[in-house]
Amino acid sequence: MEVIIAKDADAVAELGAQLVCELLNKKPEAVMGLTTGSTPIALYQKLIQRHQQGEASFRAITTFNLDEYIGMTADNPQSYRSFMNRELFDQIDILKANTHVPSCGLEDNPRAIGAAYERAISVAGGIDLQILGIGSNGHIGFNEPCSSLSSRTRMKILTESTVNDNSRLFSAEEFQPHLAVTMGIASILESRRVTLLATGAHKAEAVRDAIEGPLSARCQASALQMHERATFIIDEAAASCLEYGDYFRWANSENTPIIEKFGNFYELD
Ligand code: F6R
Repeated sequence: MEVIIAKDADAVAELGAQLVCELLNKKPEAVMGLTTGSTPIALYQKLIQRHQQGEASFRAITTFNLDEYIGMTADNPQSYRSFMNRELFDQIDILKANTHVPSCGLEDNPRAIGAAYERAISVAGGIDLQILGIGSNGHIGFNEPCSSLSSRTRMKILTESTVNDNSRLFSAEEFQPHLAVTMGIASILESRRVTLLATGAHKAEAVRDAIEGPLSARCQASALQMHERATFIIDEAAASCLEYGDYFRWANSENTPIIEKFGNFYELD
């Protein structure tokens, strides 16, 4: 596991953007796994900026988002489809037909939607780089504590803590869904590379449990310990509970000349 502790949220977004652009340079037709939430917005802004400056093209990529609320139509501003259009897709040269969100209407069978989503990822050739955030309860996607670590795309009922965390995004009159379709932990672990971004002290305990805690369904992000190419990019505040924080800082400075000479082991071949 690679743990990069950056100065602040802006530096986290910058490193995330570098990682995405390196992939695009190497593989313009990459398949990317994307996430919503507050954390990736700064990353998406940097990608938009690079696109506007002619430094990045998304024309050939395919994307799969991690999750979507059940019963949220694409035109609902609270849907994750709307979020992605607003925060990224409408501002870059991506082909909308190549962007996927696991949308599931109230009358749709979430089991069938989940299976079809898994098939679509596989037909696209699998995900090259999956971007993740982390919930304060350690969830990735909407894989809530005690979900199976072998889970696939399916319906999940959100925990009270997730509903409370996300209530900041809904006005009093708006309906806040409690059901979602999410890629599973097994689906996420199949990505060739994963990177988790976390910023802020409110994520520090979840980040500690994910990186240093026991591999446990209680902290779903701890499953990333089993991934060969998992990179955590976190700011100082999110790193503040790590026992091995100094080791990770030291390892990164030791690694720099080795990466310059031989490339990064975590990069895709
Ligand atoms: C969103 C998602 C979630 C978020 C997590 C952190 O698509 O999959 O796992 O990444 O809840 O959200 P923020 O970044 O809003 O703290």
